[in-house]
Amino acid sequence: MSYKIAIIVGSLREGSINRRVAQSICAIRNDNLDCSMVQIGDLPLYNQDYDALPNQPEAYVRFRDQVRPVDGVLFVSPEYNRGVPGVLKNAIDVGSRPYGHSVWDRKPAAIVTASPGSIGGFGANHQIRQSCVFLNMPVMQQPEAYLSHVTDDSFDEHGQLKDGPLKDLVTKLAHSFHDWVDMIHRSRQLLAEDSAHASQQAAKAKEHA
Ligand SMILES: Cc1cc2nc3c(=O)[nH]c(=O)nc-3n(C[C@H](O)[C@H](O)[C@H](O)COP(=O)(O)O)c2cc1C
Repeated sequence: MSYKIAIIVGSLREGSINRRVAQSICAIRNDNLDCSMVQIGDLPLYNQDYDALPNQPEAYVRFRDQVRPVDGVLFVSPEYNRGVPGVLKNAIDVGSRPYGHSVWDRKPAAIVTASPGSIGGFGANHQIRQSCVFLNMPVMQQPEAYLSHVTDDSFDEHGQLKDGPLKDLVTKLAHSFHDWVDMIHRSRQLLAEDSAHASQQAAKAKEHA
């Protein structure tokens, strides 16, 4: 089954290693993951006063409209000063409001952080995860993806990961993410069918009582 995935990259840098990791994930599962990169660099800083306006900022409308219909979300981000980059946190906040209209609600997600350093963005990864918990996004548990020692050298001239242990891990991750999104959506479908069936049975039993 094919799923629409929004990819949110926490770096605005043209040569971003995280964007290239995201592109590699899309290329690995392009059979079943229909990925689109959602821009976040043009989102004005979130201000709760906007929530009350009849007309939301244009970039907010565009961003929310792009995320709302997808089946899953993949966050791929650097770590800045052991935390989540401000531009990504801003996008998460913009998508979460106005209250009661979050575009993130119930969307299965995965979080990948990549860094030239040795900790692989662990701090940022878990800060994003913390927001996802509050936003009611079921987040893939394994494999965890703190990609360390990722540099320009990790990619070929087409921006794809070169063969090696990093590509092996990212490949495993891409397959697991597809399976995770699939499992969440299929389980919900089954639960909905079960519940509809139970309601029908209850109605029939009432008729014959
Ligand atoms: C403001 C700033 C803070 C950074 N802090 C960290 C950090 O806490 N941990 C880390 O592993 N790398 C840190 N780095 C290095 C980034 O991991 C590196 O620049 C990386 O290439 C950024 O990701 P990108 O290539 O996707 O833009 C920092 C870089 C910047 C610009």
